[in-house]
Amino acid sequence: MARSAGDLSASRVANLAANAVLVGFEAYRDEFRSISRRAAGRFARRDWAGALADATERLDMYSGVIDGVERVVRETLADRVTDRVVWASIKAVYSGLIARRDDWELAETFFNSVSRRIFATVGVDGGIEFVDSDFETPPVDAGSLLFHAHELRTDVTELVETILRHDGLQAPYQDLRRDARLAAGRLTDHLERAGLPERIDHAEVIEAPFYRRKGAYLLGRLVVGERFVPFALALLNTECGIVVDAVLTDENDISILFSFTRSHFHVDLDPPYRLVRTLKLLMPRKSIAELYIALGHHKHGKTELYRDLLHRLHDTDERFRLAPGTPGMVMIVFTMPASDVVFKVIRDRFPAIKPTTPGGIRESYRLVFRHDRAGRLVEAQEFEHLQFDRARFEPELVEEFLRDADQTVDVGPEEVVVHHAYVERRVTPLDLHVRQAPDQAATAAVVDFGQAVKDLAASGIFPGELLPKNFGVTRHGRVVCYDYDELGLVTDFSFRQLPEAASDDDDLSDEAWFGVGPRDLFPEEFSRFLGLPPPLRDVLERSHGELCQVAFWQEVQARVRRHEIMDLFPYDPSRRLLSAAAGPAPDGRPAGTA
Ligand SMILES: Nc1ncnc2c1ncn2[C@@H]1O[C@H](COP(=O)(O)OP(=O)(O)OP(=O)(O)O)[C@@H](O)[C@H]1O
Ligand SMILES: [Mg+2]
Repeated sequence: MARSAGDLSASRVANLAANAVLVGFEAYRDEFRSISRRAAGRFARRDWAGALADATERLDMYSGVIDGVERVVRETLADRVTDRVVWASIKAVYSGLIARRDDWELAETFFNSVSRRIFATVGVDGGIEFVDSDFETPPVDAGSLLFHAHELRTDVTELVETILRHDGLQAPYQDLRRDARLAAGRLTDHLERAGLPERIDHAEVIEAPFYRRKGAYLLGRLVVGERFVPFALALLNTECGIVVDAVLTDENDISILFSFTRSHFHVDLDPPYRLVRTLKLLMPRKSIAELYIALGHHKHGKTELYRDLLHRLHDTDERFRLAPGTPGMVMIVFTMPASDVVFKVIRDRFPAIKPTTPGGIRESYRLVFRHDRAGRLVEAQEFEHLQFDRARFEPELVEEFLRDADQTVDVGPEEVVVHHAYVERRVTPLDLHVRQAPDQAATAAVVDFGQAVKDLAASGIFPGELLPKNFGVTRHGRVVCYDYDELGLVTDFSFRQLPEAASDDDDLSDEAWFGVGPRDLFPEEFSRFLGLPPPLRDVLERSHGELCQVAFWQEVQARVRRHEIMDLFPYDPSRRLLSAAAGPAPDGRPAGTA
């Protein structure tokens, strides 16, 4: 006769539950790998719509798998489901089960996802989740890196040619020799500029190509004596075959490729721990958390982010305070002075001009999480039940919580519990930047702001409110959007011509005098409402005047409705080779990428 869960010994249910979590984790890993592996075929067949669909499918998969595991664990544990003693055993058994895995860190995060679902743990609880890893982090030595070495036999062109003949690529090149020669030229120029005219000893190339949108990337480093020079070769698959579209040789360029504003890569290479450490050598300034996230391991990236936060709290006595810039009407945003992240808490209520709800805000953040972020939308990680000492908060911030976020933040005498927050990279708000930066930097930012709006449009997104306070500038000087409450699909808005004004007075009024639907937009007004000083407004109109034309927006909408996957290059045009080599692609437009 089958025994019910209540009859089984505690150690028996602990074993069953730990195994159920492991089975779920393995299913998740298999599915993650199989979706990532599809990328090579998508690229070879130029199936961009399929590539984008895979990206969303992979993002959605995690919580679906956790749902299933949660169900099994609840059934297995029955009335012992919240028994902490049983959970301590489950954790111990599980720790033993994953000890020899090379993806143990992801396995620990997976376990935490399950246990936090069941307990809604406030703060963290080392008894039932892996706050720190149970295992020593293995040393990173040459043998553990995921590089494949290519010797320089004759010349740099031949070396590049060998690199380009990558096993992972499943389509032919248009003209391999030509591209190898052009790319080799760029690499040699770079070495000369960097004062490294010596001979390249060899190249180390990461064993699998990285795929995202319409692009494939080969990453690695040149070994020149004692020095390492990171590089990325950006490939496109045109109708006439693969071409090398760009060569990136600068740590900053490669870092931009891996930006927190871009969608995740699909790479068929494991284990993640070693891949992340290999990438870190190419981008030493990028955090481990961001590298995991860029590879699609966003939940583990979140674990790393949280560990970074704990270290910062432990190592400094910095306090949380309101983030510099224009305070949000729907969000309370706070940070620590030297930290590179901000925390965003949804206010309990919004002023009347914000016709949305806390649920609506979450929907917008979810849209951004699942959508192509086009290098222009900051990725936010969602945290629940964060617990801090009250003393770590500036009184002004505590007041703000008490006044406006009673439903999300519990302020106790000793502790503050933030029940829901988005944590994202901190950037310099564009409104502050244009006021404080030297003229040249302010001008460059305004030009890139226009480009950001265009890139978002090309990806199918309209940011809603085109105001500098909703955009920020990254350390690489790129303008990105972080305010999502009015953001939507570009096809959900109606871009309209301004009606003829009834009188001159009407023309000058800031309030629209004719009926305006909530999603009606008047591009002709965009630059007037930006609040930029006149010289900067001129800069915008000169560099991106189309943004103020209805026809531009209607054309974008038509292309998005035709499901066209538009080009978005995650690098500066000066890094491109293609225009020099082959001119525009056969279909008349520059060949697409990224
Ligand atoms: N990632 C970030 N880095 C730096 N500062 C930020 C970031 N996100 C938000 N801020 C700061 O917090 C303010 C409010 O954030 P946000 O615009 O997201 O909130 P909101 O309530 O939606 O704003 P709004 O009232 O414009 O709708 C911004 O104006 C900016 O000063
Ligand atoms: Mg804002």
